[in-house]
Amino acid sequence: MRKFCFQKRFVWKIISIISLIILLIHICLIIFFLDEKPQSNSYEFLHRTNDHSIKYIFSLPQWNIFVRRDDMLSKINRASWCEIPKELNLLAQSLCRLYKIRRCSHLPCQLIYSAAGSFEDMKCLSGGRILQNQHSSAGIKHDFLCKSGYALDLFVKTSNDLSNPSIIADSYAPIVNDLYIDLLNNQYRSPNSMWGLIFNFESISNYPTAADPEKLKFFNVTFGYDRSIYEFIPGPWLFDYVDQIIDTTKRLSLKHVMTNKKPINSPSNTDDYWINQQTNSIQSSYVKAPILWMNSNCQAKSGRTQYVQQMIKYIDVDNFGTCGKNIRPLPSHIVKLQHSENQNLQDRGTYDWKAGKLALTSDYLFTIAIENSLNHDYVTEKLWHAFVAGSVPVYLGAPNIEDWLPCRTDCIIDLRKFKTPQDAALFIKSVAKNRTLYESYHQWRNEPVADKFQKMLNYFSSMRNYSLECILCDMSRQVDQGKSAEQTKKKIIETVGRF
Ligand SMILES: *[C@@H]1O[C@H](CO)[C@@H](O)[C@H](O)[C@H]1NC(C)=O
Ligand SMILES: *[C@@H]1O[C@H](CO)[C@@H](O)[C@H](O)[C@H]1NC(C)=O
Ligand SMILES: *[C@@H]1O[C@H](CO)[C@@H](O)[C@H](O)[C@H]1NC(C)=O
Repeated sequence: MRKFCFQKRFVWKIISIISLIILLIHICLIIFFLDEKPQSNSYEFLHRTNDHSIKYIFSLPQWNIFVRRDDMLSKINRASWCEIPKELNLLAQSLCRLYKIRRCSHLPCQLIYSAAGSFEDMKCLSGGRILQNQHSSAGIKHDFLCKSGYALDLFVKTSNDLSNPSIIADSYAPIVNDLYIDLLNNQYRSPNSMWGLIFNFESISNYPTAADPEKLKFFNVTFGYDRSIYEFIPGPWLFDYVDQIIDTTKRLSLKHVMTNKKPINSPSNTDDYWINQQTNSIQSSYVKAPILWMNSNCQAKSGRTQYVQQMIKYIDVDNFGTCGKNIRPLPSHIVKLQHSENQNLQDRGTYDWKAGKLALTSDYLFTIAIENSLNHDYVTEKLWHAFVAGSVPVYLGAPNIEDWLPCRTDCIIDLRKFKTPQDAALFIKSVAKNRTLYESYHQWRNEPVADKFQKMLNYFSSMRNYSLECILCDMSRQVDQGKSAEQTKKKIIETVGRF
């Protein structure tokens, strides 16, 4: 009995030891596969040249694009990740915190070490000008080279190098205290490292720090859409459509617009605007209302959803967006045009919604164009889409919208002019009923653009000769040469002018 017991205990011991060994092997295997050794030998530190005609810029927007494009880095093969070297740890930890990257001991090597793919060469001419491709063939040589990239090793100084890279920031790289101000300003700023901010295409209401004077004072050059805040205005939304607005051969004519509207097919519609339409074409028309409404951000700060819902009580509106009541599925020819099965505005990234929207807009007398927020100079594609497609915008947005209109006379229904949505609706109804009055809103199509508009176009055409990169690099060079960078910038501002 005793002997048997002893044997049993012995067998148990053996079994537990064997299981322990198996368990250990498993753990080792798991650790081994989880922690694939990243190889850093294919990447090398960029040896920053001492050639002072080359200037470096660290672009936070590009860092951000890289991180987001690859879906928070999860898809990048671990084999091409590198360990963050000690001297870059502080900077890397702060950037990781900013972009919510949790495990930050390793990053894709491109984010750490400069490689060909992480750089873009900017050929610059003195005075902040950029040498554009079409000029280089004419034998013009660039005065200096500027390299814009997103690798952290730009911040590693060589022994005889006293400069940190210049920095470009944007609204997606929020101007938070710890990164920009405490860390970058105190540890990675030298007299010749210039900081530039670019803030375009987003409303200040959504990014109030981008307009905070306390934050802006850390930047040597600011680019942004609002002329009352920023020093330079980069190309606005308008520029995607500018040819179709200024070029009379590409712009829709008054006649074209007036003969190509679909008839309104609605029993509740008492507007007799379309007296010249055939009855059978009316029956086949999907257009039920004089106004098109197509919005997808329903909680916008401007309160546009509520505004349109009030208007709908007094005038018919065709709703093809995702906000409010009575949403209609898109007509099949529009769905086809968008190359998609999408009957509504969801998942806009997956199909050509712009083509569909423009085609739909061209059928309507009026199109709701209310910005998501009401800010100075904040004029988006909503306005330009309506103009380009030949519909009259029902506009609420920039309080200074008159500065941005191509027309000398009225070309928008300006919602600021009405006390209530009801007043606006009744007025639109009266315009829809009166062909002469409606036509007057398209009168500008037969005329040269307004003087103010032309002045603005002139500004943007001179701005095409400048880039933020070249301005920053040139200012940095001026400091190297013991000259005033501030003076250089003032001269550029004088040359480009204002509008
Ligand atoms: C650039 O901006 C910083 C922060 O405002 C300032 O300290 C520095 O003097 C500026 N550099 C030049 C050359 O103007
Ligand atoms: C239509 O509008 C025109 C231009 O504003 C105006 O002169 C005319 O009296 C209007 N017609 C009617 C019937 O209201
Ligand atoms: C832009 O630069 C080119 C070449 O230097 C010059 O010919 C052109 O006049 C400039 N355009 C404007 C609008 O300043």
